[in-house]
Amino acid sequence: MSRLLVTGGAGFIGSNFVHHVVAHTDHHVTVLDKLTYAGNRASLEGLPADRVEFVHGDIADAELVDSLFAGTDAVVHYAAESHNDNSLHDPRPFLDTNIIGTYTLLEAARRHGTRLHHISTDEVYGDLELDDPERFTEDTPYNPSSPYSSTKAGSDLLVRAWVRSFGVQATISNCSNNYGPYQHVEKFIPRQITNVIRGIRPKLYGAGRNVRDWIHADDHSSAVLTILEKGRIGETYLIGADGEKDNKSVVELILELMGQDQAAYDHVADRAGHDLRYAIDSTKLRTELGWTPQFGDFEAGLAATIDWYRANEAWWAPSKDSTEAFYAGKGQ
Ligand code: NAD
Ligand code: DAU
Repeated sequence: MSRLLVTGGAGFIGSNFVHHVVAHTDHHVTVLDKLTYAGNRASLEGLPADRVEFVHGDIADAELVDSLFAGTDAVVHYAAESHNDNSLHDPRPFLDTNIIGTYTLLEAARRHGTRLHHISTDEVYGDLELDDPERFTEDTPYNPSSPYSSTKAGSDLLVRAWVRSFGVQATISNCSNNYGPYQHVEKFIPRQITNVIRGIRPKLYGAGRNVRDWIHADDHSSAVLTILEKGRIGETYLIGADGEKDNKSVVELILELMGQDQAAYDHVADRAGHDLRYAIDSTKLRTELGWTPQFGDFEAGLAATIDWYRANEAWWAPSKDSTEAFYAGKGQ
């Protein structure tokens, strides 16, 4: 059994990972989470207390981080400010957590010789034209567009430098857009599902032609565990499940699955600098480490996600009004 430290484990993907680890391994997990507006302890409810411990704190708190690394075999680093729209409104917390927070973890990994896996995003590569036959690979040059993606790119480069300069035992993964349970209602899919539940029309930025490459959060978790177990130190692995869809099609599918008229949505103001298309080529992860995604059917995964939001209104309702007020203030 290993002792894992999971940063950001009360967030969307981090909490899905903790559930996955408890279900599929015998590792012990310590979650370190600041519980920002995006963190929710309820996402970890029901997990056995002898397997999962929660520590409330900031990854940029060097003393706390150092004490936690002392009893840890491996760190999986999910904690981040994660939302592009927020980064356009107020970039500062993105620098504090994504850059300084990651730096703090790397220094602790260096001191303790601890294995670290850094979670990143396909957005570091910028965007693709709709008709580009190429997809992102591990060799695609970095070209981030937003304050969010530029701070994630910066954090990736810090990890690479700490591996090369100080011999830190780290790997990196860059994943495409996740969907599934426990995702904050500020994000595209949960926003539209909870809008329909509330009787609000879904909101599509611009014309809705932008393409995202959707992967179920549980497939992201199995990929991260695979990299943790078999990944080569210093390497980057792209994670994706061949799930390209344009936003308009996703909104129409949500409306159809929820028994509504497929045209019952609004076009709203576009996002500044809105990336057009992301698409991941995950050949390296599949061929070198033998990973395969399990959620091949996006429509079935989306239907299950809709069921989860219908059954868990108490989880998302406290954030819904303030989130919609933020968007309304921007004409979105
Ligand atoms: P999220 O916003 O849902 O969760 C982030 C979590 O980090 C929250 O629990 C928050 O409280 C915590 N946190 C924030 N600042 C912290 C700090 N300073 N110290 C400790 N905890 C802090 O984000 P998410 O969507 O689950 O994303 C998790 C990671 O995965 C991020 O690194 C993100 O860049 C990456 N990622 C996300 C996606 C996606 O589709 N959501 C895709 C690829 C990669
Ligand atoms: O690609 C990985 C990234 O995916 C992660 O690094 C980010 O943390 C994660 O938030 C996500 O970024 P996006 O900006 O792609 O996700 P978001 O859910 O904000 O938006 C998805 C698409 O939907 C995007 O093209 C913007 C659009 N959108 C979003 C919202 C909230 C709408 O059309 N309407 C909306 O109301």
